[in-house]
Amino acid sequence: MKVTTAVDKLRRAGVEVIDFGAGEPDFPTPGPAKAAAHKAIDENFTKYTANAGIAELKRAICDRYRADYGVEYSEAEVIVSAGGKQALYNTALSLFGSGDEVITHAPYWPTLTEQVKLADATPIVVHTSAADGFTIRPQAILDAITPRTRGIIINSPCNPTGALISEADLEAIAEVTARRRIWLVIDLCYEQLIYEAVPHNLPGVVARTCRDLAVICGSASKRYSMTGWRCGWTIGPAALVAACGAIQSHSTSNVASITQKAALAALTGSQEPVRLMLQEYRIRRDRLYEWLTADSRVRCFKPAGAFYMFVDVSQALGGHGLRSTTEFAEALLEEQKVAVTPGEAFDAPGFLRISYATSMENLREGSRRLLDFVGAHAPRQSAVSSLHSSV
Ligand SMILES: Cc1ncc(COP(=O)(O)O)c(C=O)c1O
Repeated sequence: MKVTTAVDKLRRAGVEVIDFGAGEPDFPTPGPAKAAAHKAIDENFTKYTANAGIAELKRAICDRYRADYGVEYSEAEVIVSAGGKQALYNTALSLFGSGDEVITHAPYWPTLTEQVKLADATPIVVHTSAADGFTIRPQAILDAITPRTRGIIINSPCNPTGALISEADLEAIAEVTARRRIWLVIDLCYEQLIYEAVPHNLPGVVARTCRDLAVICGSASKRYSMTGWRCGWTIGPAALVAACGAIQSHSTSNVASITQKAALAALTGSQEPVRLMLQEYRIRRDRLYEWLTADSRVRCFKPAGAFYMFVDVSQALGGHGLRSTTEFAEALLEEQKVAVTPGEAFDAPGFLRISYATSMENLREGSRRLLDFVGAHAPRQSAVSSLHSSV
């Protein structure tokens, strides 16, 4: 959000900026969703709805998860909220409180830990490592459990790394959380944006292993390119959903009636737009990877999901120059007019998040400028010193 504000400011001043900061798809919302919204307005479907969402939409969410994952949930086990963000927030406020510890993994989307703090609980962060492809290892999560642990939040595909947790690894966590009566929240906001046909039926895993303590948070934002419409959902035990409903009822009430009709059309219509967006992201990911890895001072790996490349630029830091990726990002914007999100935002110093939810031309030109910038700040090792280091 901060990066977007800086970019907006520069653009208003007439400066052309290449924006790799955006955490949202650059595609238009699919036509059927837009048409359903127009129809809702024309038919005056513009009043309050049921707080937890219209029955057809809750039904459509249950049907979507049944079709995608084979899980059975009823309407009483679903609440529609203003984006995945509110779905996760209602969940955090319902489940966590003072004295509780909630485990999650880093690099992370910062809202996850901030929401835990807003609930007056303490986030416990387990770090994954670049050398391991940022894989979430169940043992590391389980080792962080204490008698105060009330919940575990897993985000897969992960923002910012694009890493996935495997079904077996989530199951290893779920077996323990079921036994120790700990809530397991899975943030699936990027769930349809997975590049290879790897098994990723996380709802299936939690539904069969720890259903009475499992919460699934999803969203229309990324999968249907509907970030501005604000539609997400929480699926879980009816009592939890009722608690989320009470919080929502006294804070924001229902998601905009028009948005609900649009999301209904997106969920029940053809899923082809999602496939087409994924196909385009895959091409961009591969090209960007190829361009960036042409310079050995920049290290990255291909993300398995979402639309971010998480890039190690630590070789361009230190000495008398840039001290952090926040400084790197500021200087990159200043000198090269390229906006990226610094790793410190995700508890991952030394890294940058590059969003490839932008055009191929921007990716080509932006990666060229980024490498120029790295070249200026991280002089290449001489032949002799690289020989020494390989010895
Ligand atoms: C990991 C993760 N979860 C949830 C969300 C929430 O998205 P929204 O509130 O737009 O549905 C985001 C948004 O960037 C995200 O990155």
